[in-house]
Amino acid sequence: MLAPPIYDIRKSYDENYQFGPFFSGIPPKQIPSSNQTIFLGKTVSSRVGIPAGPLLNSRWIGFYAKMGFDILTYKTVRSRYHASYPNPNCLYVPYHKTFDLEDLVHPLIGTLSYTPSSLNDITITNSFGMPSQSPEVWMQDVQKTHDLLAPGQVLVVSLVGTQQEDTDLASDFVRTAKMAREAGSDLLEVNFSCPNVKGKEGQLYQNPDASGAILKRLRKELGPNVSLIMKIGFIENPGQISALVEQTSPFLDAISAINTVSGQIINPEGHPALPGPGRERAGLCGGGIKPLSLRTIRRIRDAIRKLGKPITLIGVGGFNTVEDYPDFRDAGADFVMSATGAMWDPFLAYHVKQRTFSQDIIRKE
Ligand SMILES: Cc1cc2nc3c(=O)[nH]c(=O)nc-3n(C[C@H](O)[C@H](O)[C@H](O)COP(=O)(O)O)c2cc1C
Repeated sequence: MLAPPIYDIRKSYDENYQFGPFFSGIPPKQIPSSNQTIFLGKTVSSRVGIPAGPLLNSRWIGFYAKMGFDILTYKTVRSRYHASYPNPNCLYVPYHKTFDLEDLVHPLIGTLSYTPSSLNDITITNSFGMPSQSPEVWMQDVQKTHDLLAPGQVLVVSLVGTQQEDTDLASDFVRTAKMAREAGSDLLEVNFSCPNVKGKEGQLYQNPDASGAILKRLRKELGPNVSLIMKIGFIENPGQISALVEQTSPFLDAISAINTVSGQIINPEGHPALPGPGRERAGLCGGGIKPLSLRTIRRIRDAIRKLGKPITLIGVGGFNTVEDYPDFRDAGADFVMSATGAMWDPFLAYHVKQRTFSQDIIRKE
């Protein structure tokens, strides 16, 4: 049987924020990394990281840094406090095979009454509504985070603009990015994809013109010394991927793909599994979405190659086990990140490092 997750999916966002991570083991001794490389101008000890999601604050980042994840993304922040949807925020989706598009036409069962038998088995849905602490809280916390990282580890801050009465979406993206910059972060990820929010900010990546326009503003206002990563969701159409990459590439340093994939989630009785309006659909993540993420990553890699620009590609979505890692690299990802996998297996980065390190020794002998 698997150990319970470090991010307790039975607890609310606030409880995980205040009391997590829930880990009672011993962090590994770091193994020497043979895979040191450059991530957006900074030296990192490996290509393994955690995307925006489970790292709710500096305590979470400090913990996963000790576990050997080298690229750590602070969960998406906003320019003002935004409450989380009520608990439950995550449910198991015990589907027992990976998804393709036709599987997502039908409702899927979400439940907490499930015991996964292996890491590959873990597909979940999450629905938070992109909560954020107030800037006073997260800015101070981001500042604290820098001191918790070892050499060869970097922090990325994920952020999103919020459509408000007194300001347009692009201006709020800029405002939030400047706050993150002020908190000492020069690796910024703009979240253009979240199936769980009702506002326009959740679907931006599907509109190449709007994405390009916001990134152009961000680049102009932030200058050249900030690295900008665009987080996008699943895209099936290669033409749409090319258009998005073309329109955004003049202002970008990296693309992170994919965010969760939207699905309709019901309980075993056939009713919406997540309480409250606007939560009938929620984001699927973990093992089940791996074929969809690999497909998107391959197509983005093709589009980047055709364009001939040095854009870094971060692969996300279904990296649950050490065996998944090479699949993402083969698909064209320069760096590989795990959210769901890392929630259940905090030793994931350690195991990837161990494997790449021993393979290197074998190669040298
Ligand atoms: C608990 C949880 C919270 C998440 N919150 C965010 C978020 O705030 N911003 C974001 O861009 N993605 C968020 N994600 C999506 C992940 O970054 C990732 O794109 C997605 O889960 C697919 O990766 P996985 O299969 O490794 O989980 C979240 C995922 C999880 C599991």
